[in-house]
Amino acid sequence: MITDPNIEQYMHDLLPPRDEVLAEIEAYAAEHKIPIIGPAVARFLTALVKMTKAKRIFELGSAVGYSTIWLVRAAGPDAEVHYSDGSPANAERARGYFERAGVASRISVHVGDALTALASVPGTFDLIFNDVDKDGYPAVLDAVPDRIKPGGLFVTDNTLWHGRVLHPQEATDAAVCLFNRRLFESPQFYTTQLPIRDGVSVAIRL
Ligand SMILES: C[S@@+](CC[C@H](N)C(=O)[O-])C[C@H]1O[C@@H](n2cnc3c(N)ncnc32)[C@H](O)[C@@H]1O
Repeated sequence: MITDPNIEQYMHDLLPPRDEVLAEIEAYAAEHKIPIIGPAVARFLTALVKMTKAKRIFELGSAVGYSTIWLVRAAGPDAEVHYSDGSPANAERARGYFERAGVASRISVHVGDALTALASVPGTFDLIFNDVDKDGYPAVLDAVPDRIKPGGLFVTDNTLWHGRVLHPQEATDAAVCLFNRRLFESPQFYTTQLPIRDGVSVAIRL
């Protein structure tokens, strides 16, 4: 945990309950150790989408669709949200949740490498949410600047990486550090970072 566990718990206890589908995904993810963003980051993401009126959204690394459902609900009836994940089993489960949540018609499901999927969809996006495996973060940063409209957002989860950014030992830790440094140095983005849960970076495309 990045913040004091008591603060983390306090913040978590303030969150309103989720509906049946989201609550079920949270329980499934906990049981199967699937790392989802969780409700605190999901609400922050929702606020960003609503503040910027983002409609066209691409998600890199969607697992069983928890964050995707938050994104599509935040973006509203005109949303165009792209789910991507390398696991066919995750995608199959996510499709079921999308149907039950009543949002399937606004989500395109891409199975396979997330950056290949991004390259297959033309145009720019209002928001790209990055949550792929952390060693892939530098490659994501190479790919996304041309795919976000000016004023659009590039949001990345886990950028404090359980605190391992302080003392990087493994290649994954080094990849997150490299990503963070390059993102803050990039003249293409105005970047901020918040210590919510595992760290979330929000970069505005200039
Ligand atoms: C942290 S989980 C995503 C959680 C999801 N964003 C949520 O909060 O509900 C990361 C997911 O990305 C997928 N993934 C990782 N690297 C990927 C890549 N390069 N291309 C496609 N999927 C990838 C994994 O299969 C995994 O399901």
